[in-house]
Amino acid sequence: MQPLKEKILSEGKVLSNEIIKVDAFINHQIDPLLMKGIGSEFCRRFSDTEITKVLTIESSGIAPALMTALELQVPVVFARKKKSLTLRNHLYESKVFSFTKKEVNHITVSKDYITKEDRVLVIDDFLANGQAADGLMDIVEQSGAHLVGIGILIEKAFQEGGKLLREKGIRVESLAKIASLEDGKVLFVD
Ligand code: G4P
Ligand code: NA
Ligand code: NA
Repeated sequence: MQPLKEKILSEGKVLSNEIIKVDAFINHQIDPLLMKGIGSEFCRRFSDTEITKVLTIESSGIAPALMTALELQVPVVFARKKKSLTLRNHLYESKVFSFTKKEVNHITVSKDYITKEDRVLVIDDFLANGQAADGLMDIVEQSGAHLVGIGILIEKAFQEGGKLLREKGIRVESLAKIASLEDGKVLFVD
């Protein structure tokens, strides 16, 4: 997706050979027009299939997931990383290990909001090793819902998450695929 790639080139900051900082438009300050375009693009890419719910994980997945859900006219649910005070039971739970932050998050979703009748589109900002996607997929599986696919803003194609998911037969649509961050430069796939 051209506007996202241009934004990555103009405002992304390569921190190392593995990490790019996108705080200027995704992870801290959020560009609403870009997010609106991202929502339309996911809607277009998945227009061949019925979707009843968008599922993401807090915090940075929420903005693009909300814009996608708005375009699809379905609800969006975000997995929580901390347990809610008012919600302690009746939850799907999974574990997500973050390689970037070297910590385990226990993620939860209320059983009220994903059920076996749902057809779920998972949205997230980054795909690196695929741990967050695995945790969200685990929750979809526990619910008995159907996973339609996964929409990602930035896939780091030099890490193995995308490959692992596609090998499992999962439909992954990434709007920007980064081949390399070496020498401080962003190289996209194709
Ligand atoms: P994985 O889920 O694909 O295995 O990725 P990983 O564990 O490495 O990611 C952990 C966190 O770091 C996630 O955010 C993910 O979005 C983010 N992340 C991964 N690679 C990059 C990168 O190159 N740049 C930036 N800026 N973030 C990256 P999170 O902990 O869920 O935080 P939040 O922003 O959603 O609150
Ligand atoms: Na993030
Ligand atoms: Na994320």
